[in-house]
Amino acid sequence: MKLIRQGAEAKLFETKFDEKKALSKQRVPKEYRCEQLDNKIRSARTAKEARMMSKARALGIKTPIVFDIDSKKKEIVMELIEGPRLKDKLDKKNLALCRQVGENIAVLHEGNLIHGDLTTSNILVKGKDIYFIDFGLAKTSGKAEDKAVDLLVFRKTFEATHVELMPKGWELILEGYLAKGGKKEVITQMQKVEARVRYH
Ligand SMILES: Nc1ncnc2c1ncn2[C@@H]1O[C@H](COP(=O)(O)OP(=O)(O)OP(=O)(O)O)[C@@H](O)[C@H]1O
Ligand SMILES: [Mg+2]
Repeated sequence: MKLIRQGAEAKLFETKFDEKKALSKQRVPKEYRCEQLDNKIRSARTAKEARMMSKARALGIKTPIVFDIDSKKKEIVMELIEGPRLKDKLDKKNLALCRQVGENIAVLHEGNLIHGDLTTSNILVKGKDIYFIDFGLAKTSGKAEDKAVDLLVFRKTFEATHVELMPKGWELILEGYLAKGGKKEVITQMQKVEARVRYH
């Protein structure tokens, strides 16, 4: 297996599944956590990530297909998406991708799925399609507050990563969000959460 990336939580390898190119994501031990607890956390996140990826797919969002899960090895074998991260792809010429991102987040939220770690590193671009990955912190919730926090976390990283695309990039994300049924209430709530975080 070829190591293609060492993330904060996991090692990513290129591998094969049924002769096809695939990606193996293995959650690595965190030395600062007690071993037993660490094992539990990594197992839970592995199982949750696979479950949430399938759930997102069922909602019509593109995510890699899960091929296999190995709870002992804390491993998910999934479809390898051959395309860049949105982080590396997004620029002034393809800003329309932002609208597409907003639309996709609305579909997740309307399906009561909170991604939990929205960043442009966790979105891959292949042709005209965008794929959401990294669902280890995802959860289901119908609460506007949870959706608002999901969006706020995204905005913070988006602003910091894509300074030159602000404010237009973020406006397009919200435009897409509202166009696909995302609720205005969530956006209002996001502004409230932000004010609360800032003044306390
Ligand atoms: N199915 C996939 N196909 C292609 N590349 C992938 C796939 N899954 C992950 N990657 C690549 O590996 C990187 C890290 O994956 P992921 O975000 O799932 O792990 P992570 O440990 O949470 O990483 P980080 O801490 O960097 O967010 C992604 O940004 C992407 O470049
Ligand atoms: Mg990631």
